[in-house]
This record gives sequence, structure tokens and C-alpha cells, in this order.
Amino acid sequence: MTTQPITQEILTVENVNISFKKSKTQSVLAVKDLSFQIRQDETVALVGESGCGKSVTALTLMQLVEKNSSIIEGNILFEGENLNKLTEKEMQAVRGNKISMIFQEPMTSLNPVHKIGKQISEVLVLHGFATKADSKDKAIEILKKVGIPRADSIINEYPHQLSGGMRQRVMIAIAMACNPKLLIADEPTTALDVTIQAQILELMKTLQQQFNTAILLITHDLGVVSEMADRVIVMYYGQIVEQAPVRTLLKNPKHPYTIGLLNSVPDINSDSDEPLSPIEGNVPNIGEIKEGCPFRLRCKQVHAKCHTENPALFQLDQQFVRCWLYEKREVGA
Ligand SMILES: Nc1ncnc2c1ncn2[C@@H]1O[C@H](COP(=O)(O)OP(=O)(O)O)[C@@H](O)[C@H]1O
Ligand SMILES: [Mg+2]
Repeated sequence: MTTQPITQEILTVENVNISFKKSKTQSVLAVKDLSFQIRQDETVALVGESGCGKSVTALTLMQLVEKNSSIIEGNILFEGENLNKLTEKEMQAVRGNKISMIFQEPMTSLNPVHKIGKQISEVLVLHGFATKADSKDKAIEILKKVGIPRADSIINEYPHQLSGGMRQRVMIAIAMACNPKLLIADEPTTALDVTIQAQILELMKTLQQQFNTAILLITHDLGVVSEMADRVIVMYYGQIVEQAPVRTLLKNPKHPYTIGLLNSVPDINSDSDEPLSPIEGNVPNIGEIKEGCPFRLRCKQVHAKCHTENPALFQLDQQFVRCWLYEKREVGA
């Protein structure tokens, strides 16, 4: 057997559409024609303002979007399987085991009535990483790995007894307990103060190197992107509008939306004191834009075609941009 190259794709998302049903006959498209890949050694950041479709994307990868009220089309290929075709039972073997997820607010994902130790043990036993007999020791071991002091007494505490930062460490411990291939982190540090945030990001980096876990990091914070990501996917109104290696994207953003996002945060690469200019207006509600480029309502470089046609993703070297300004170099053209 040949060894696989380390840059192998772990996840391939192909032409995924996510719609929510509004009535028996009507649905609205929340995420449109989403295609991207994550390699085993990568951290990919998914960025965009609130309402762009980041969380819906993450939940779809985990098959956690309510099936009765949604329609998910396209392929989500993970280790040769299409997650979108798995039964709930089959998916349970993937979730928390091969793909784990952490959320912004750990209090909502930790069970408030169960002790920390029990919550970790349950995951370990469920996926066959421990027996009932040794699950307590293993839980302590895992808590130590994520830098939790007094791990042997913390296992007997309840989530509310811990600080926000410690709770997020516990969530990371649970997420990493089965040594997943892919960790999806949805705004994992947004609810934490800056010092704790830095510690949690550092912990994620350390664990990634230790366990060789790919990370899909969802954030609206470009500082976090700069710190963590290898590649960046920018979403707007449920579509990828730009995709590039992190340094390229931060130094040479192309899509007017990406440029707008970067202008609305303090410059990551210099101490320049240019005034910040947030993007005016809001992300439209899903279903609101019927034609043209969804960003045109907020764009400073809008021209006639933008009003009628939604651009394709155009390729410029390693960068992909969904904007008519870059029309000539269409992907595959
Ligand atoms: N279960 C749902 N039913 C209907 N619309 C939804 C549902 N979940 C999310 N949406 C809509 O999908 C869009 C994207 O939401 P979301 O992925 O949560 O954004 P983000 O995480 O980027 O802030 C929003 O317009 C939101 O209102
Ligand atoms: Mg979200």
C-alpha cells in the first residue's frame, strides 16, 4: 500500500444547496451552490457577517439541520462517503467521532444537569474509546490535555460551576475525545474575552498539531482568521464570494465585500491609523434578492450587469472571486 500524501482532501463539498421550507409548496434558498474542500492538514476559515449562512453550512455538514423543514441538495463527501445520503443512525457514528463540532456558547451544548466527567465519559463509551470501567480515568486524562487544572475534581462539577473559558475547554475536550479527523468550530471564541480567546485558539492549534485534525473555523473576526487559518472562504448571502490562501486574501482582497470586511476592522498587518469604515447596510434576508449580484445593494463598484446577473466564481491564480470586475478569467473557461 502506498502512503497517502498529507495534503489529501478530507472533506469535499460539491454544489450544496440548502433551502428552508416556508410552506408545503414554497421554500427559500439559504445557501447556494456551495463547493469547497478541506485538506487533512488545513485550517479553513469561513467568514462573513451575521446571516451569511455560516452556521447553516456547519450544521449541514454535521447533518444537524432539521430534516422536515429543509431540503439539502448536493454532495458532502467525507472519507469516500456522501454524508448527505447517510441515515441518521449511520451519521451518529460519524458525528462526535470522525467529525466534531464546537459552538459559540458551550452552556447550550453541555448538559446542565450532568457532571462534566459523565458528559465526557458518555462520548468515549458511545464511540468505543473507553469502557465504563476506565472512562473516568480517560476523561481526566482528556481534561488535562486541554489544560484544565484540577481535572480530577472538575469531573465532579456541573457546567455552571465553571467559567466560560473553562466550559469551552471542556467542549473542546469532548470534541477531541475521539480524535476526530475534522473539527468544525462555529464562533468558538466569540463569547469569550480577549485573553481567554487567545488561550483557546492556542489550544486548538496545539491539539490540531498533536492529532492532525483538519479544522473548519467559522468566525466573523478577521484577527482570528489571520492567526489561525491557512485558507479563507468568504460567504455573502449564502454564497462563496471569495476564496484564497490567508495571506493572499488579507493582503490582496478582491471582492468588494471582502475589501469592505477588511476596511471595517483595524488593520491586521500594520499599525496604520486610517479611519475604519464599516460596510453600510445589512445582509439581505434569504429570498429577498431575486436577481443580480446580492452584494450590489451595498457595493461601491456596481455597474449595469450587477443588477441583472449573479456572477460566477472567477479564478485569478489561487484566488476565486464572484464578482463581475474579474469576469475574464472564469473557472474552467
Ligand atoms: N431553520 C431555519 N429556518 C429558516 N431560515 C433559517 C434557519 N436557520 C437559518 N436560517 C436563515 O439562514 C440564513 C443564514 O443563517 P446562519 O447560517 O445562521 O448565518 P450566520 O451563521 O452566517 O450568521 C439567515 O438568513 C437565517 O435567518
Ligand atoms: Mg452563525
